[in-house]
Amino acid sequence: MKVLVIGSGGREHALCWAIAASPLCTKLYCAPGNAGIAKEAECVPVEADDVEGIVRLARERAVDFVVVGPEKPLVLGLVDRLEEAGIKAFGPSAAAAALEGSKGFMKDLCARHGVPTAAYGRFADRDSARAFVAAHGVPIVIKADGLAAGKGVVIAHTLDEAHAAIDDAMVARAFGDAGSELVIEEFLTGEEASFFALVDGAHALPLVSCQDHKAVGEGDTGPNTGGMGAYSPPPVMTPALEARVMREIVEPVVRGMAAEGRPFKGVLFAGLMIVAGPSGPEPKLIEFNARFGDPECQVLMMRMMSDVLPALVAARDGQLANFQLRWYDETALCVVMASKGYPGTYAKGTEIQGVDDAAAVPDVTVFHAGTTRSADGRLLAAGGRVLGVTAIAPTVREAQTLAYEAVDRIVWPDGFCRRDIGWRALAR
Ligand code: AMP
Ligand code: GLY
Repeated sequence: MKVLVIGSGGREHALCWAIAASPLCTKLYCAPGNAGIAKEAECVPVEADDVEGIVRLARERAVDFVVVGPEKPLVLGLVDRLEEAGIKAFGPSAAAAALEGSKGFMKDLCARHGVPTAAYGRFADRDSARAFVAAHGVPIVIKADGLAAGKGVVIAHTLDEAHAAIDDAMVARAFGDAGSELVIEEFLTGEEASFFALVDGAHALPLVSCQDHKAVGEGDTGPNTGGMGAYSPPPVMTPALEARVMREIVEPVVRGMAAEGRPFKGVLFAGLMIVAGPSGPEPKLIEFNARFGDPECQVLMMRMMSDVLPALVAARDGQLANFQLRWYDETALCVVMASKGYPGTYAKGTEIQGVDDAAAVPDVTVFHAGTTRSADGRLLAAGGRVLGVTAIAPTVREAQTLAYEAVDRIVWPDGFCRRDIGWRALAR
């Protein structure tokens, strides 16, 4: 099977790494890819959100199966266009990707199907948004409805902050059209975790749970990023809680989407808050994503014992009902190395050395995110998040030790990482 992976981040490197190991894969392409992906796949310089360019590429190379990594091409309808062209593709249609692409749609769907989420309102004008904030008080969470590259959520601790967030989105149009509608919701307290399931339109196959580290600074301080590290499994997600997430969140949404004429296929990524309920911890849904997480995918692929490719194809083909996947029980832990300054401004083109030494640490894989090669073959940083140093070991502590042993072999004066990935598990 000729496979094409879409995207250029650490998530896509992990997908390419896993798919390249499948005996079913005879040729692997990635568009546009990065310097690490180039070791697993033939990289082709077509941007991930160039829908027509990707369809043309898939046709030209007689690709049998396309795996879409990022959300933007999904929301733009890449899977619809590929399927219309007779090319099988893994990922939701644009109609189903609305679960990620419109927070208001997602909240209304959850309300219709009884899925536990924060209480909320949807607003298309500033005055009614302000009135809702005045009625509910602070802290309160203000979200741009559409895709805002991870920047569309403000947790307001004062009324002034809430008003500023509303004005930013609706008056200054900081997120363009994505912010012309807002979701304003109850602030939830608890521990965050994420849960993943493969979905074939009608059935959901549970994958595993993860915990991401969104803040740039140690102890979860400072501005939010795309994710500075992740590990799996997180102790907060007990098997009982995972079963509840399937029963109360994933399955009702899969049924609801099918019943409403938008059957969901692909990966359903549930961002959760584990809140204290009257009789113990309870999962509440914070958000859905319609794709694998980055860096969550890196730890998922390290833990997956089974061949990933047949599972992705079964999700596309509506054949997940009796599908089984096997996992390593060990902990996988990914430390993201980013360019100094990220998530603000940072220099591009700084040189990175020692990646092969790092990858030589046993049970470590170095996934590339924003990397490129200079004409003379040197490895250069080309983005905010640059590497995902990922280890697998029997315990969180051992996985953390191994990952940082590898990190310390990387020579990159212009990069940084958090030194505390996995801390919540270790603090228990
Ligand atoms: P989202 O893009 O919806 O995942 O939001 C980004 C981050 O904002 C989440 O990972 C949470 O840390 C935080 N957040 C979002 N919604 C809420 C909420 N209702 N209560 C508390 N924190 C939230
Ligand atoms: N790491 C969070 C995300 O992929 O959305």
